[in-house]
Amino acid sequence: MGYILIIGAKSDIAMAVARKYAENGFNLYLAARKSSKLNAFAKDLIIRTSRDVKCIELDILDYSSHKRFYDNLRMKPVGVIFLVGYLGIQVDAQSNFEEAHKIIDTNFTGAVSLLNIVADDFEKQKNGFIVGVSSVAGDRGRGSNYLYGSSKAALTNYLSGLRNRLHVSNINVLTVKPGFVNTRMTKEMNLPNKLTSYPEDIAEDIYIAQQRKKNVLYTKWVWKWIMTVIKIFPEWLFKRMSL
Ligand SMILES: NC(=O)c1ccc[n+]([C@@H]2O[C@H](COP(=O)([O-])OP(=O)(O)OC[C@H]3O[C@@H](n4cnc5c(N)ncnc54)[C@H](OP(=O)(O)O)[C@@H]3O)[C@@H](O)[C@H]2O)c1
Repeated sequence: MGYILIIGAKSDIAMAVARKYAENGFNLYLAARKSSKLNAFAKDLIIRTSRDVKCIELDILDYSSHKRFYDNLRMKPVGVIFLVGYLGIQVDAQSNFEEAHKIIDTNFTGAVSLLNIVADDFEKQKNGFIVGVSSVAGDRGRGSNYLYGSSKAALTNYLSGLRNRLHVSNINVLTVKPGFVNTRMTKEMNLPNKLTSYPEDIAEDIYIAQQRKKNVLYTKWVWKWIMTVIKIFPEWLFKRMSL
């Protein structure tokens, strides 16, 4: 079945995605910083699924290492799933450029650096798929998280362009836009139960959408309609809302 490269593999959603793909017969490359922390998880997956699972070191901000990282993968992946993300602290990022820079680079620049390399390889092979996890936060800028939101908007746009470019080479690019998900990223937030998913639900939705070669996935599905409404508010009204 080949290898799936999961980037940002220590993320709660990524671990659920890894489980899902291994259970469905795929071997895995789990790429993360401090990847040895995934050793026990990988061992457990190997025992339960009899798949090959390798943990590999990757810092998405270490751009100069990305080509070497990819070249060193002995068996090239049949699919890549990008899950790295950094929410950051909006109020800090408004006045401290270092924090703003980290948000932009982790969510966007790093993705571009690595996925450009993957895209070139897949294009040559005329085979493969790319899944990029963006966010509903990228659909419209809001006062409470526009640094994270704008970096995800850039990622969404990048993935859209990539899809357009790679379509003729038989490569599907899926953009995933989760709403609220119960993970380490949101543990300080008071999330509304009805609108909040668990990593396992997101993993299930991603797997199904990717296998069906979908282009864009909102998960939970209701977020598609919530964002449709949020996007049609006229700017004169939207700016008065404290969102
Ligand atoms: N949770 C939500 O409500 C929600 C909603 C919409 C979209 N998303 C997106 O879903 C994806 C997964 O997030 P999550 O909710 O599962 O949160 P998470 O557990 O905090 O995952 C984020 C991951 O990004 C990794 N990361 C950050 N900087 C990195 C770097 N420089 N190099 C390599 N890895 C780095 C983190 O690595 P460490 O483990 O080493 O810190 C962490 O594993 C993210 O792209 C996030 O933006 C989440």
